[in-house]
Amino acid sequence: MPKTDNINSIIDHKLFTEEDIHNMCVKLGKQLTADYAGKKPLIVGALKGAIFFLTDLVREMDVKAEIDFLDVSSYGDEMESSGEVKLISDLATDVKDRDVLIVEDIVDTGLTLEYMKNLLKKRGARSVKCCVLLNKEANRTSDVEVEYYGSKVGNEFVVGYGLDFMNYYRNLRYIGVLKPEIIKLVNNK
Ligand code: IMP
Repeated sequence: MPKTDNINSIIDHKLFTEEDIHNMCVKLGKQLTADYAGKKPLIVGALKGAIFFLTDLVREMDVKAEIDFLDVSSYGDEMESSGEVKLISDLATDVKDRDVLIVEDIVDTGLTLEYMKNLLKKRGARSVKCCVLLNKEANRTSDVEVEYYGSKVGNEFVVGYGLDFMNYYRNLRYIGVLKPEIIKLVNNK
C-alpha cells in the first residue's frame, strides 16, 4: 500500500479539474435531458467508481428518473482487467420494458460494460445505453457501443472523482494521473 496519507501527494499531474468535470456533467446532462424526454429511464450506477459522477450527472438531467446500482468487477485489486467479469451485487429493480442508462466512471477494455449491457438486455430492458465519464480506447477489446462520454483519455492510470487505485483515492475532487513511483511501490511489494 502506498506509504502516504496525503492523497494529493500521489498525483503526478492533474488531468481534469473540478470545473472541467462540472462542464462535462452539464453538457452530458443537457444531451440526456433531450434524448430521454418523455421517458422514465432507470439510471444504473456501476459501483463503486461511478457514484460521484452519477450524483452530479443526474442533477443536470431534467428527467423523471429512477436510480439503482449494480456492482460488477473485473479488476479486483489489479490495475489491469482480469478479463473475467463477476456480478458482486445486483439491482433491486426489475428492468423489463425499461429504458436503462448505465452510468460508469471509465471504459477501458469494454468488457465490464459489455457484461452489464448484455445482462440488462437479457432481462428484457427496452433499451440499454451507457454514459461514461472517461473513454480510454487504447486497450478496447470489446466492440461495445459507448453512446455518451465526457472525454477521451490516453492509456494512463487515473484516479480521483470516484476512480480508485487499490480502492483508495476515490475522494479526490479532481482526476489525476498517479505518480509512477506509487505504482512501482505496489508492483514491487
Ligand atoms: P473495463 O472492463 O476494462 O472496461 O474496465 C472498466 C473498469 O476498470 C472501470 O469501471 C474502472 O473501475 C476500472 N479502470 C479502468 N481504467 C482505470 C483507471 O485508469 N483508473 C481507475 N480505474 C480504472
